[in-house]
Amino acid sequence: MAYTIAREPAASKKPKPPQQELGFGTHFTDHMFMMDYDAGIGWHDPRIVPYQPLVMDPAAKVFHYGQTVFEGMKAFRAKDGRIRLFRPDAHLSRMNRSNVRLSVPLLDEELVLEALRQLILADRDWVPGTEGTSLYIRPFIIATEPLLGVAPSRQYRLIVILSPVGAYYAEGIRPVRIHVEPDYVRAVAGGVGAAKTSGNYAAGLKAQEEASKLGYAQVMWLDGVHRKYIEEVGSMNVFFRLGETVVTPALSGSILAGVTRDSVIRLLRHWGIAVEERSLSIDELVEAHRAGTLLEAFGTGTAAVVSPIGELQWQGEPQVIGGGVTGALAKRLYDAVTGIQRGSESDPFGWMVDL
Ligand code: COI
Repeated sequence: MAYTIAREPAASKKPKPPQQELGFGTHFTDHMFMMDYDAGIGWHDPRIVPYQPLVMDPAAKVFHYGQTVFEGMKAFRAKDGRIRLFRPDAHLSRMNRSNVRLSVPLLDEELVLEALRQLILADRDWVPGTEGTSLYIRPFIIATEPLLGVAPSRQYRLIVILSPVGAYYAEGIRPVRIHVEPDYVRAVAGGVGAAKTSGNYAAGLKAQEEASKLGYAQVMWLDGVHRKYIEEVGSMNVFFRLGETVVTPALSGSILAGVTRDSVIRLLRHWGIAVEERSLSIDELVEAHRAGTLLEAFGTGTAAVVSPIGELQWQGEPQVIGGGVTGALAKRLYDAVTGIQRGSESDPFGWMVDL
């Protein structure tokens, strides 16, 4: 279907930061995409406009009741200059699953993909090409109806902003140290833990702040009921190599179904490596560490890609994993995922979409 997306080009272009100094989410491109929703009309007025502040009614529901969802996906500049998106279909269908959970109206995924295509092409000079860099794409929906009654909003805005990024962690792909959180809980099954919504991240800030004071990059969450099964790490899903098997927590209803998580599981199985998606308790992990069978740990996420975990701190005892250095499997996965994304490796699953 042909979609009409209005365009208002930016009057001037911002200077671009040097690619080696990008960091994560600090620079934004010249344009953004917006589209509004009104009950009775549906989504309307898709448009690409200059990057700009929002003017909003202070009574907008998003400020009070947090009715909002977001996604995080990436575009890459391949060696031959082509710009390509990594699994946009998986991200957009997850966004619609988050919408269902947060009572936000569904998006037409094809229209949003076309909007992404046009927006990224408008800002194509911003897509970095050096090793470890990409254009991070942040679509988000906010409830804009100015009304304080607690009920789903009747008005929304979808906004997409773009940010050229380098590594998410200051450590780059060096192993991060993670604190296993004993007290606070991120989410419970039946709640919104499986949705990509801001409240899940806000709920994690206190624990992250405390862990960071102790020198840890992130926290690892345990389940909210038994307080013993591993769920995920602040901004990543998590994997453990136990002997010859790779184990990752099953999607229990409180864990985000990561697109990189799914990609890593598929790659491992494609390579003939056994992967188990199951419950994994912290006790089993500590026991495996003691027995010497916990060989590697790593997190996966769009922002973090594949990030080795060099140490888990549990109940005051640091569990150093794999000598605290990047494990062979984490490195192989990082190279495979980034190789597919940058076009230097073949793409056996057809994940990349050329713009
Ligand atoms: C992502 O990996 O895209 C995420 O959403 C994590 C993030 C909150 C930085």
